Amino acid sequence: MKQYNIGVIGGDGTGPEVVREGIKVLKATAKLHGFGLKFKDYDFGGERYLKTGKIIDDAEIAALKKHDALFLGAIGHPGVKPGILEKGLLLKLRFALDQYINLRPVKLYPGVETPLRNKGPEHIDYVVVRENSGGAYTGCGGNVMTGTPNEVATQEMIYTRFQVERCLRYAFDFVRKRHSKKNPWRGLKPEDVEAGKIGQLTLCGKTNVLTFVFGLWERAFHEIAAEYPDVKTDYCHVDATTMWMVKNPEWFDVIVTENLFGDIITDLGAMTQGGMGIAAGGNINPQGLSMFEPIGGSAPKYTGLNVINPMAAICAGAMMLDTLGETKAAAAIETAVTAFTPRMKSQAAGKMGFSTTEVGDELVKMLKQQAKPKK
Ligand code: IPM
Ligand code: MN
Repeated sequence: MKQYNIGVIGGDGTGPEVVREGIKVLKATAKLHGFGLKFKDYDFGGERYLKTGKIIDDAEIAALKKHDALFLGAIGHPGVKPGILEKGLLLKLRFALDQYINLRPVKLYPGVETPLRNKGPEHIDYVVVRENSGGAYTGCGGNVMTGTPNEVATQEMIYTRFQVERCLRYAFDFVRKRHSKKNPWRGLKPEDVEAGKIGQLTLCGKTNVLTFVFGLWERAFHEIAAEYPDVKTDYCHVDATTMWMVKNPEWFDVIVTENLFGDIITDLGAMTQGGMGIAAGGNINPQGLSMFEPIGGSAPKYTGLNVINPMAAICAGAMMLDTLGETKAAAAIETAVTAFTPRMKSQAAGKMGFSTTEVGDELVKMLKQQAKPKK
């Protein structure tokens, strides 16, 4: 039997609670699909930092590398100044493990309320491939004459051809993977299908102002596109992207973008799919160790109340199985989620019509039901 070792960082606030439900669903899925999952807990996060002053060191990162995947709850503690844990733990791990892709599906599940008028699951179903290693997140810059009226602050958006190219190649491959077993993406026009296209990749940039960085992205995009004649290409400035994400989300299939733009547009995307309670993401190193997380925060005010929505963690678990190659098991979770969301009153904490633990229990029941041979 295939065994996977998963490192678990529950983290702060409601992180451990949502991760617990994710693990519950993952364990049940593994049992039904004939593979093993072993989980090992790590206590990185705000509590430990406040007690010991330690965030994470190189030896601890080396220990994490022994796992097949990492499962993360949330990072962020009201007692810790903003930036310390974000940079010291979350970004540190993304960089140290070279998780250069942040994969964020924007998918409206059935019965989930969206603030977008007249839009349903058939309109909101795309994926953002966020570059996760460079840009403004590189940390190049600084302050001089700090605290004086002449203070200067810089924070540079830096990209290498290498970073841009590996991200774009991932995105093009992802479009192929997304549509390989399915019919072509339904947003294609008949003439696109006629021309042999199966899906669409939209580059989101700002070529009209940030001409250096997006000049590089745009050139690389078109060069690489020539190797993927089956993928329709499209371009959108980031400001216009936010507009179309609200007005015509059905125009998107896969969006690829740089780090900070991806950070911003995926929060918008999350709201259109029902909020942070249901938005999942993966920090992916396609050749190495990946880390899956609900994209929302630690929601400290709901800690310990058994009211937080664990759906994002459950969906992140499905993404993890998919990346590990357990595609059937991942699809089974997806099917159970699709069947369960219409039964939820809301995706908001405390308003789901279920407690946190009940959501996990219900999904396990549905998975078992699904797996029963049909009479
Ligand atoms: C996210 C978060 C992080 C980011 C923060 C917490 C560092 O907002 O995962 O989107 O900016 O990437
Ligand atoms: Mn963010």
